[in-house]
Amino acid sequence: MHSPIPSLLLFFLLCFAHGTKDLGHVPTLDRCPRGGCSHGPPVHFPFWLEGSHGPECGYPGFKLFCNQDGQTALSVPNASLVVKDIDYVSQFVVLHDPINCLPFRIWDLHHLGFYAFKYPYSYENSYNYTLFKCPPPDRNYLTEVDCLSAPGSYKVYAVKSSRSIGDLPLVYCEKIRSLNSLPNAIEYMIPDARFDWKEPDCRNARRTGGCVDGTGATSHAIHLLVDTPVSF
Ligand SMILES: *[C@@H]1O[C@H](CO)[C@@H](O)[C@H](O)[C@H]1NC(C)=O
Ligand SMILES: *[C@@H]1O[C@H](CO)[C@@H](O)[C@H](O)[C@H]1NC(C)=O
Repeated sequence: MHSPIPSLLLFFLLCFAHGTKDLGHVPTLDRCPRGGCSHGPPVHFPFWLEGSHGPECGYPGFKLFCNQDGQTALSVPNASLVVKDIDYVSQFVVLHDPINCLPFRIWDLHHLGFYAFKYPYSYENSYNYTLFKCPPPDRNYLTEVDCLSAPGSYKVYAVKSSRSIGDLPLVYCEKIRSLNSLPNAIEYMIPDARFDWKEPDCRNARRTGGCVDGTGATSHAIHLLVDTPVSF
């Protein structure tokens, strides 16, 4: 007598074997699924999420993690920045610095491959500032750099270096340092700012079948074919 169970089992085994053989590249995708933190944008190539993805799922500087508030975050030296948005099509991230120090992290972000966006309508090439440390009272009308301030003791203000300071309320203030080459006015970089990435360049991924790195090599087509539901 024939029980139907063995043939059913065989059927499934065949299906399974067939499936794994046909989709030989799937294990890679299984290791790099779309991820994300409870409060944040989807995370996929070229980003990778520590704890969910291995380094092979993205670019080295693009490692993200979920912070204790469930937000998507990016580590830079001495700080973790909240990733509020990732635009995979135009290739930029919107970063938030909980202590409002983004203008001082441009160089660290640059090292990771993120470049401060320059507003197209800004009429100056770069913005240079002199920072003044001032005892109370508060100096109205000046831009406070609160991540360098010690409330109750002193506040730090940014003044455009080109400005003549004679008419500014800087009595008893001490010049502490300069901050040069900001792409935009400092007030547009506190507390959030947009940073673009150039590499890998996935903007033509549908056409080229992958992302192009700095050497012109195309890579990670697998991730893109699955992970990029946008139309190019
Ligand atoms: C990190 O913070 C320490 C102490 O405030 C400081 O000495 C050091 O220069 C900082 N490192 C970076 C890369 O900002
Ligand atoms: C700002 O400083 C940089 C480097 O110190 C300099 O090359 C640039 O010309 C300065 N920009 C302005 C507007 O003064």
